[in-house]
Amino acid sequence: MTTKTHTPVLNVLVVGATGSIGRLVVDEALRRGHVVRALVRDASRARALASAAQRIEGDLTRVDTLLPAVEGVDAIVFTHGANGGGRNGVEQVDYGAVRNILQALGGRSVRVALMTSIGATNRDGAYNRSTQAHDWKRRGERLVRASGMPYTVVRPGWFDYNAADQHRLVFLQGDKRQAGDPSDGVVARQQIAQVLVHSLTSDAARNKTLELVAERGAAQSDLDSLFGALLVDQPEALDGILDEPNMPLVSEPARVKEDYERLLATSTPIHGAIPDWIEHVSDEQYRADFTGQAN
Ligand SMILES: NC(=O)c1ccc[n+]([C@@H]2O[C@H](COP(=O)([O-])OP(=O)(O)OC[C@H]3O[C@@H](n4cnc5c(N)ncnc54)[C@H](OP(=O)(O)O)[C@@H]3O)[C@@H](O)[C@H]2O)c1
Repeated sequence: MTTKTHTPVLNVLVVGATGSIGRLVVDEALRRGHVVRALVRDASRARALASAAQRIEGDLTRVDTLLPAVEGVDAIVFTHGANGGGRNGVEQVDYGAVRNILQALGGRSVRVALMTSIGATNRDGAYNRSTQAHDWKRRGERLVRASGMPYTVVRPGWFDYNAADQHRLVFLQGDKRQAGDPSDGVVARQQIAQVLVHSLTSDAARNKTLELVAERGAAQSDLDSLFGALLVDQPEALDGILDEPNMPLVSEPARVKEDYERLLATSTPIHGAIPDWIEHVSDEQYRADFTGQAN
């Protein structure tokens, strides 16, 4: 079966547009002919962005400031990051940005590319135990999957730790590399931007979750073949298809469950109505029902 790739011109919102990946996403999206809107906190910090990109100000921690940013967009690329602020920062920004942008959309469906991180499902490592950054990024992934919008979740390896001849992209699933250092995988920032932007118009990338790393060799020109080889996430699952089911919803903070409820009340989930699992489902049922993996 051949996979069709559409290449329409999209109105693309880049979240985190002044960041080290976001600014490359802006350039890549423009290069591919899209109309680009860059969400920035402070326009004076966005002077280095390509002049062809529209700047729009907004604070990811405040929904009310995000309504103009999402108006009329067809696609959103999330590349934001708290970069400080401790546990509160990762909750408010890494997770809050996804929640707030989806809320600002008010149930309108757009194509989403969400960048998180390799190791996002590693809860026990020293990094997550001290920062909870993995957990909050993963909760953002879960909101995107629960939204019913078409999406691609990209979990890159260590930015720009690649050697000069390390550009052959490798797409992984299951988030098995959890050393918490560059031995987990490395990838050039430029290639992360290419993968994120390409996913927006690739049928083969739809509703997939991947870890993105690079090995020795030349960059491939055909990203659809790489996306096409991946498994699709289960429609009912909050996690990626091969992720370890180590974050049972029943044990999640009440405010996170409330965010799911609020999101589901305004969206059209692909898997129909979400029942009363938030309060009643057991860990075992959760594994079986939402990850397809029984104990
Ligand atoms: N470094 C790695 O090897 C690696 C690997 C995998 C994943 N990651 C993850 O990738 C993420 C992004 O990395 P990066 O290097 O691109 O980060 P970055 O350069 O610090 O960019 C973060 C972006 O988020 C924006 N932002 C933060 N808080 C905001 C708010 N309240 N409202 C609006 N915008 C806000 C920043 O805007 P301002 O310019 O206004 O601050 C900036 O545009 C990080 O969270 C990191 O954990 C990193």
